[in-house]
Amino acid sequence: MNVYIYPDAQTLAVAAAALLAGAVIEKPDAVLGLATGSTPVPTYRELARLNKAGAVSFAKARTFNLDEYAGLAPDHPQSYRRFMNEQLFDHIDIDPANTHVPSGFAGDAEAADYDVQIAAAGGVDVQLLGIGHDGHIGFNEPDDTFSRTTHRVELTDITRQANARFFDSVDEVPTHAVTMGIGTIMQAKRILMIATGRDKAETVRAMLRGPVSPRMPASVLALHRDVTVMLDAEAASLR
Ligand code: F6R
Repeated sequence: MNVYIYPDAQTLAVAAAALLAGAVIEKPDAVLGLATGSTPVPTYRELARLNKAGAVSFAKARTFNLDEYAGLAPDHPQSYRRFMNEQLFDHIDIDPANTHVPSGFAGDAEAADYDVQIAAAGGVDVQLLGIGHDGHIGFNEPDDTFSRTTHRVELTDITRQANARFFDSVDEVPTHAVTMGIGTIMQAKRILMIATGRDKAETVRAMLRGPVSPRMPASVLALHRDVTVMLDAEAASLR
């Protein structure tokens, strides 16, 4: 695991975008695993800037997002599909048909089929991850075991409270989601985790220094052979 620390979130975003764009420059039909949430927004802005400047083309790239809220249609204002369109896909030259977000209406069989689609695309070349305050990656919450394939999950109160900022109230935050499993994430050839802000510092410390445990899902990254962790100074402050 390689850990890099940047003075601020914007500098980190430039580095994260350079890594992702570099993967696509090297392999134009690369498969990118993408995340939603606040952390990747500046990275997506930088990717759009690089695309507009002609530094990278996503015309042949394919993407698979980590997760989607259960019960939200793709055009719902708070759906992760809509988020991705608004934050990234609408601003780059990607073919919308090459972008994939799990269906929020998937039962277990359809959810697991997402892994089959990823494998058919040749597997994820670089998986971008954020980290939840409880250590979740994707929506894999602390549990007794590590999950395997894409599946339906119940969201914890911590996660629903954290994500309430995107909704009118916490009651509107869906109670369930469909997420890539830990097994799905660990099959990516390369993983890029980004974390910013003082509120992530304790979780980052637990991920980097604590035991590998499904109680701290992100700790599993210690078992992957190609992980880059990018932190801003605040997220790295307790490390
Ligand atoms: C998003 C996702 C989540 C977020 C995490 C951090 O697709 O899978 O694991 O990465 O909840 O979210 P932010 O960046 O909003 O702090």
